[in-house]
Amino acid sequence: MRFLITAVPTREPIDPVRYLSNRSSGKMGYALAEAALADGHAVTLVSGPVAISPPPEASLVSVETAREMYDAVAAHLPGVDVAIFCAAVADYRVASVAGEKIKKAEEELDLRLVKNPDILGSARTVFGFGGLLVGFAAETHDLARHALDKLRRKQCDLLVANDVSRREIGFDRDDNEVTLFFPDGTREELPRASKRSLADLLIARIVALPKQETQEMGRQDGPPAA
Ligand code: CTP
Repeated sequence: MRFLITAVPTREPIDPVRYLSNRSSGKMGYALAEAALADGHAVTLVSGPVAISPPPEASLVSVETAREMYDAVAAHLPGVDVAIFCAAVADYRVASVAGEKIKKAEEELDLRLVKNPDILGSARTVFGFGGLLVGFAAETHDLARHALDKLRRKQCDLLVANDVSRREIGFDRDDNEVTLFFPDGTREELPRASKRSLADLLIARIVALPKQETQEMGRQDGPPAA
């Protein structure tokens, strides 16, 4: 199958030397790309800037900002069977990026932020994606409520959620512990494991999900937004 995986935090520039970003190492997304490749699939990896190396067999599309990631996903989604949105996308960007380094002349500095497009949320509605759609949610509280809300709102076939208030798993760690949420309201807690072995397990679960209509046929349950 053909996979598209988004990974890594995006960066939203403030001025030529500073940016806003999210706490995420990118390890989970890269582990998923490795696991999908190891299972014999073709992978397009749409990745923000990160210190770790991508698997050489993946087709890498490098981006920096959320809007660049949105455009890259729009361009590469046609023909894809499975799309996994693992990136920690910055929800907001700076409204007006300074052309020169901001000097610390003032005691206070206000940054006006504007919302970025929701890439996963656009997959069904804007891009008309009809393949298997997998989202991630990193939550600090009310994990199940938020995860189920995201699953339904973004029309996912699977939502992978983790509790980032727990220091021993999640951000920057090699291990992770996630709960899977399915559209029928069922859930499955996976045991704590290295991100790489968890990725193997997730790819096995994803390829076993009930197949969607092909993208060429389109979806019957909601017209794409204009
Ligand atoms: N995501 C995305 N584009 C965005 C924001 C999020 O593609 N601009 C994707 C993430 O990659 C992840 C999922 O959406 O798969 C959940 O992201 P999250 O930010 O937790 O969801 P939101 O709906 O933005 O909710 P919140 O208010 O918690 O930020």
